[in-house]
Amino acid sequence: MEKPTKRILSGVQPSGDLHLGNYLGAIKNFVSLQEEYECFFCVVDLHAITVWQDPKVLANKTREVTAAFIASGINPNKNNIFVQSQVPQHAQLGWLFNCVARMGWLNRMTQFKDKAGKNSENVSVGLFSYPTLMAADILIYLATHVPVGDDQKQHLELTRDIAQKFNNDFKTDFFPIPEPLIFGEATRVMSLRDGSKKMSKSDPSDYSRIMLTDSAEKISQKIKKAKTDPLPLPDNLDDLKSRSEALNLISIFASLHDTSLEKIVAEYAGKEFSLFKRDLVDLAVSKLEPITSEMNKIMDDQEYLESVLNNGKESAISVAEPVLAKTKEIIGFLS
Ligand code: TYM
Repeated sequence: MEKPTKRILSGVQPSGDLHLGNYLGAIKNFVSLQEEYECFFCVVDLHAITVWQDPKVLANKTREVTAAFIASGINPNKNNIFVQSQVPQHAQLGWLFNCVARMGWLNRMTQFKDKAGKNSENVSVGLFSYPTLMAADILIYLATHVPVGDDQKQHLELTRDIAQKFNNDFKTDFFPIPEPLIFGEATRVMSLRDGSKKMSKSDPSDYSRIMLTDSAEKISQKIKKAKTDPLPLPDNLDDLKSRSEALNLISIFASLHDTSLEKIVAEYAGKEFSLFKRDLVDLAVSKLEPITSEMNKIMDDQEYLESVLNNGKESAISVAEPVLAKTKEIIGFLS
């Protein structure tokens, strides 16, 4: 089997509206990588159901993530865009990896601890074994690189551990050890209400995040209400780093503007937040509004969406199936 040298897989859950963290930490980077790599972008609905999803909205959210990929600039003619549950090889390899990963490894996953909280006896088994399926998502394509936000770093380390253990156990070099691609000025976008918390779909406050479906007016309200501190903006990075809310807003600005943090700090040194926020509103609206309106257009064309996902499914299966067959052969299953 020919091994790829520059192949990407990444996934986004259809578990709620996409927010600025998903865009700046992941999707925007997917767009910039698509020329250089062969890409598989997956809407990970099997991961989404590790917590309750309303069956009446799940299909629509799955289409919405697909629309967001395309509206953000991912070319569906060049890249594989598909839905995880439509490619059964993910779940099949996921089971095999459940038998490779160790309980101790999964017990260390901080995202599980955060999500389960004090309720760990009552969450789904899927939420606990979630990272083994994520490893399968990546390795079923023998992907070499995985662009993600900073919060997925530990899951990628686990993916590398699974690949390594499989290779050692079966004395093979079949699975690549994939490299995370975590880059840009906003690898961890924080809540607009609390600079110590990650921006997330599950935060109860709508004002904690900017959604890709927000109107210009909503974006403006949310940025104007964003928490800051009483000081003017700092003139150096060291001072900025101890001021989490200021750091977050400046990182968002730099990332949206495709400029470095240093340059934005220099530009706004000593200025008041009110002026900075006004500029940030203009910038965010100018970058996000075209994506939102394109998303809406694509969502109105369900036939088109279906054809993209059908093509994606077929090409994904054509790559995934031989990898699964080879894995089963290595393990010793009957063919
Ligand atoms: P998910 O759906 O939570 O998020 C999708 C992507 O958005 C990034 N992200 C963020 N980046 C910066 N700041 C934030 N506040 C922020 N919130 C989310 C995530 O890092 C991610 O890149 N487990 C994954 C989905 C997944 C996956 C995979 C990813 C399943 N299989 C295989 C890569 C490869 C997740 O829950 O992402």
